[in-house]
Amino acid sequence: MSDRAAIDQLTEATLAALRAPSVLNTQPWRWTFLGDTAELRLDADRRLGALDPDGRLLLLSCGAALDHAVAALRAGGYAGSVERLPDDTRPELVARLRLGARCVADPRNHEAIYRRQTERRPFAEKPPAAADLDALRAAAGRHDARLRFLTPDELTSFADIAEVADVVEHAEPSLLRDLRTWTTRPADRRDGLPGRTIVPDTWRTVPTRTFRREHEQLGSGTDGGTAYGVLLTERDDRRSWLAAGEALSDVWLTLTGHRLVASPISEVVEVSSARRALRTLLGGSDHPAIALRIGVPADTAAPPRTVRRPNSDALGFPGQS
Ligand SMILES: Cc1cc2nc3c(=O)[nH]c(=O)nc-3n(C[C@H](O)[C@H](O)[C@H](O)COP(=O)(O)O)c2cc1C
Repeated sequence: MSDRAAIDQLTEATLAALRAPSVLNTQPWRWTFLGDTAELRLDADRRLGALDPDGRLLLLSCGAALDHAVAALRAGGYAGSVERLPDDTRPELVARLRLGARCVADPRNHEAIYRRQTERRPFAEKPPAAADLDALRAAAGRHDARLRFLTPDELTSFADIAEVADVVEHAEPSLLRDLRTWTTRPADRRDGLPGRTIVPDTWRTVPTRTFRREHEQLGSGTDGGTAYGVLLTERDDRRSWLAAGEALSDVWLTLTGHRLVASPISEVVEVSSARRALRTLLGGSDHPAIALRIGVPADTAAPPRTVRRPNSDALGFPGQS
C-alpha cells in the first residue's frame, strides 16, 4: 500500500474515533499524524479537575477513542497495531496507532459507531437476552477487562452506592462546578453535555446522575428489564483505565449492534468512598473502572445527538496547535 493510501486509512479511522463517547462530552483527545503513525494524545486541559483528579475518566475516554479507531481499521481489513502508553516521559502520549496486519474485514463495530448514543431514558420492561449479555462479556474480555453483571441481590447495595455518590457530588462545590461547567458550555465550543440530552429525575431502581438541568422527555420505559454491569480491571493504574476505556467502547458498540442501548454510571467511581464500597460489594479483588446500565430501548425515536468539536480541533500534524 502506498504511503498516501495508508494515511487515508488512518485518517478515516481517527475521524471515526472523534465520535467516541467521553465523560461529559469533554472529548479530551487529539490525534497527530507522523508518517505511517497516528498518535493519540490526551488533552489535560479537558480533564475534570475535581471530578477526575487522577485522570481515570480521561484515560477511559481516550481508550474509547482508541478502540473506535481500531474498529474503523478492522472494517477496512486492517487489524491495527497499537503501542499503549509507550513513553513514560510523555504521559500525554496515550497510544501510537498503525494499520497493522491485513485481516478479514469486520464492519460490525464500525457501523455501530454512527448509531451509538448515550440513552439516559428508562429502558423497556423486557430484559436483554442471555446470549446478548454473553456477547458483551466477550467484548470486554477482548481487552484487559472483565464485565461483571450485578445479581438481583446486589442491586439494593449498588443503588445505595450510586445515591450516596450523587449526594456527595452535589454537596461539594468543586465537584458541582465541574458538572455545571460541562453542562452549560456555549454552543460554539461544540463539546459538553447539552441540556436537551438530559432527562428529568424519576424513581429508578438504581439512581442515575442528577444533572439538575433537563429538557429531554422521560419516554415510556420502566427500567424493569435493565441489566447493570461493572467493568473491572485487575489493577487500578493508567494502563488499566486505558484498557477499561477500550473495553467500554467494544461493549457499547457490540450492544448497539445487538439493538440494545446503554448509559454509563461513572459517579460510582468518581467518588473514592463509593469506588471502595463497590469494590467490596463485588468481592474486593478486581477494581471497578465504570458501571453501565444496559437494556432494550423502550422508545423507537433515538435521543437527541451530542455534538463534536470540528475535526481540525482534534486532528493535526506536529507543530499545529
Ligand atoms: C468515561 C465516561 C463516563 C461517563 N459517565 C456518564 C455518567 O455518569 N452519566 C451519563 O449519563 N453519561 C455518562 N457518560 C456518557 C457521556 O456523557 C457521553 O458519551 C457524551 O456526552 C457523548 O454523548 P454520546 O455518548 O451520546 O455520543 C460517560 C461516558 C464516558 C466515556
